[in-house]
This record gives sequence, structure tokens and C-alpha cells, in this order.
Amino acid sequence: MFRNSSQGYGWVSVGLHWLMAILFVGQIGLGYATQAVTDPALQFDLYQWHKSTGFLLLALALLRLTWRLSERQPDDAPSSRSLQRSAKLVHLGLFVALFAVPLTGWAVASTSVLDIPSYVFNLVVIPPLPLTPSDAAEAFWSTLHATLAYGAAALIASHAGAALWHQFIRRDGLLRRMWFRSA
Ligand code: HEM
Ligand code: HEM
Repeated sequence: MFRNSSQGYGWVSVGLHWLMAILFVGQIGLGYATQAVTDPALQFDLYQWHKSTGFLLLALALLRLTWRLSERQPDDAPSSRSLQRSAKLVHLGLFVALFAVPLTGWAVASTSVLDIPSYVFNLVVIPPLPLTPSDAAEAFWSTLHATLAYGAAALIASHAGAALWHQFIRRDGLLRRMWFRSA
């Protein structure tokens, strides 16, 4: 039940997948909102929430990677060889994004000359990465962070689209492999 089988993902993988999917998509919206609002007090609060959720996602990504490396993977989904290969590539891209997006966000906060501490839900302060703060460095990491985040959004759209195509056009029950099953 908790572990993966040849037929599908177990509860740990499924729980992590959907928790992180909700948080990650919400985090893209929150990141966008930090740039769209004009009220400085609201913008500051949104930044703090964005940083907190970002560090939570990074910790969950470490847990998920450890679990994934120690678990068997289900058999390939019923599809052609080329679709199976592109699904694997997209999954790999999403996994890379789960680390690269929060890490580059951390780099933005670490290179800011404003030197604002990164609180995680007002509980702990995360120290900056060992990078030299400057406007140029912050602009570089900021562009990379935004590009990776919106690139991940495009990957997510194609990933979710493919899952819905399997479910409603091919009707092969692929979504069941990534849902809570009793056996
Ligand atoms: C938003 C709607 C989403 C749907 C409908 C969806 C659906 C699925 C399904 C059905 C699978 C299993 C595929 C198979 O059996 O081969 C899967 C796997 C996967 N999904 Fe999603 N997903 C969504 C969002 C996301 C998001 C936001 C991410 C990451 C940012 C993500 C990352 C992954 C990864 C890495 C896998 C491979 C399995 C693993 O290593 O955990 N998914 N998804
Ligand atoms: C999975 C986690 C994350 C996602 C999906 C994400 C996504 C985003 C997005 C979409 C933006 C708006 C970019 C723009 O339109 O210019 C943004 C901005 C920002 N993020 Fe994140 N972020 C994540 C994690 C983090 C973390 C951990 C930090 C810091 C510790 C952070 C710090 C920032 C900062 C300072 C900005 C504003 C500067 C900029 O434009 O890049 N982010 N983020």
C-alpha cells in the first residue's frame, strides 16, 4: 500500500506527488504575484510567504528524491515507445525543476544587497548561499529563477495535458497509477 508496485505508485509517492504539485503550482502564482503587486507592505509579506513555501518545497524535493532512489518504479505506462521515452524526459525535467527553481530563488535572496533574512514560516532563519551580493548578481539569478519557473510551468502543462489525454481520450486509467489504492 505505502510502497510502489509494478502496477502503480504507493501512498508515499502519491502523497508527495500531489502535495508538491499543489504547492509548486501555487508557488508559481505567488512568485508572479510578488512582481505584480504595487503595495510595498503586501509585496514584503508575499515575498516572505514565497520564500517559506520555496524552502518547504526544497525539503520535500530532497525527501522525494531519496524515496524515489530507494523504491522500485512501476512498469512503463501502456503507450508507444516514443511516448514512454518523452514521458520519462518530462518527468526528469520536472524533477530537475523541483531542485533548480528553489535553489535559484535562494540565490536571488542571497545576492540581494538589501540583505533581508529568509525566514521559514517565522520559525527559523535560513542563511544565505555563499555568493557575493551585488545588483548584477541579483539580476542574473532573478532572470534564471523566473525563466526556470515559467519553463517548469510549460512542462507541467504538457505533463498534466498528457495525463488527461490518457484518462479521457485513451481511457487507459493512467491516473489510477498515481492515486491512493488499497492494494
Ligand atoms: C497538475 C496536474 C498533474 C497531473 C494530472 C499529474 C499526473 C501524473 C500522473 C498520472 C503520473 C504517473 C505517470 C505514470 O504512471 O507513468 C505522474 C507522474 C509524475 N509527476 Fe505529475 N501530475 C500533475 C502535476 C505535476 C507537477 C506540478 C509536478 C512537478 C512539478 C509533477 C511531477 C511528476 C513526476 C516527477 C512524475 C514521475 C513519478 C515520480 O517520480 O514521482 N506532476 N503525474
Ligand atoms: C519551487 C519553488 C519556487 C517557485 C516555483 C518559484 C517561482 C517564482 C516565480 C514564478 C517568480 C516570479 C518571476 C517573475 O515574474 O519575475 C519568482 C520570483 C521570486 N522568487 Fe521564487 N520560486 C520558488 C522558490 C523560491 C525561493 C526558495 C526563494 C528564496 C529563498 C525565492 C525567491 C524569489 C524572489 C526573491 C523573487 C523575485 C525576484 C525575481 O523576479 O526573480 N523563490 N519565483
